[in-house]
Amino acid sequence: MFDTKTVERFNTIDTPFYYYDLSLLKKTLDLYTKELRKYKFHAHYAFKANANLEILDIIKEYGLGADCVSGNEVSLAIKSGFDPKKVVYAGVGKSDKEIETALAGEIFSFNCESIPEIEVIDSIAKKMGKTASISLRINPDIDAHTHRYISTGRSQDKFGISHWMFDDVLSAIAKCSNIKLSGLHFHVGSQITDLNVFDMLANKVNEISANFKDKGVKIENLNLGGGLGIDYNDPDTTPISDFASYFSIIDKKLIREPYQQIHFEPGRAIVAQCGSLISRVLYVKFGKGRKFAILDAGMNDLIRPALYQASHKIENLTSVGRGMRYDVVGPICESSDRFAKNLLLPETKRGDIMAIRSAGAYGQVMAMRYNQKDLAPDYYSE
Ligand code: LLP
Repeated sequence: MFDTKTVERFNTIDTPFYYYDLSLLKKTLDLYTKELRKYKFHAHYAFKANANLEILDIIKEYGLGADCVSGNEVSLAIKSGFDPKKVVYAGVGKSDKEIETALAGEIFSFNCESIPEIEVIDSIAKKMGKTASISLRINPDIDAHTHRYISTGRSQDKFGISHWMFDDVLSAIAKCSNIKLSGLHFHVGSQITDLNVFDMLANKVNEISANFKDKGVKIENLNLGGGLGIDYNDPDTTPISDFASYFSIIDKKLIREPYQQIHFEPGRAIVAQCGSLISRVLYVKFGKGRKFAILDAGMNDLIRPALYQASHKIENLTSVGRGMRYDVVGPICESSDRFAKNLLLPETKRGDIMAIRSAGAYGQVMAMRYNQKDLAPDYYSE
């Protein structure tokens, strides 16, 4: 929901652009960190969701660390003032150069996904005279009940190390002089709205950490990843996810030793709802049995609908009145460049301002220059 002043401001700006409501971001972080502190949990914000400096600055002020998936994200985290001792670095394909960057930055932990990766980190660390602190990313074989492209914890997914590999991994680590195993890492998927999935995850973490304890391995850090979903259908009724229930499930279910620290990597639930993609209607045209509202924003600006069949709430901020059905599409030369099908909107005309809501996470960061379109710029409420 936007107030009149904000819509008047939108009218003066060239479209398309991303708009971020920083007061909602702060409210979200207030609630998130309040729940986190209750249990003395730690959080590392997933940079991949949105790495705009204005947003990172605020998240950093709330004391979160950084969850990175590339050398450039690690560099950005350190350059933008995140504490290196709160930086974690995951990914199935870390290049030598990226590993060097993270070792030089003396980050908190590499989340490692395979034996060959651990061996490469060890040999680079040896050359640099460093010791790499690592967590093993575990593939717990859990179905997160989310879109298959953003499920990461099933045995057929490329992520993590499966339980039958644990002994081999531990013997490989025993041969590495510059590796210190300090944690287990889990991330089973994204946009998870069924909280039972986290209940299942906590049970699985208990099982696996007991397994390591039986093997005589002391695990100091348990990282449960991110994944908490948001309400794409009704962002105004549920602007902030239910952090209280989420953390209380984990707190109730997760068995931990007094020396263990618990970590999370939230992305979407922190930034999705504060961002919108703002666009203008270029044309309204008639097709067979349907009307198209053609926007100046497309899949190049926000790829989620085309890639994951994701649905974002769309609002006409200019016209009011009688409802009509539209396919809301972008200008790109692809039929998948469609934001909504048969959507009820007020009668819509050329020049109307349209807001595509809940676009703060995996929106602007995934934008591309397909068709040589310009990247949409960003504006802020403050
Ligand atoms: N930790 C790891 C290791 C991850 O791979 C991810 C997201 C997160 C944390 C943060 O998850 P979140 O709290 O945001 O669910 N582009 C897709 C989402 C891809 C998520 C990738 N990993 C989308 O637009 O839905």
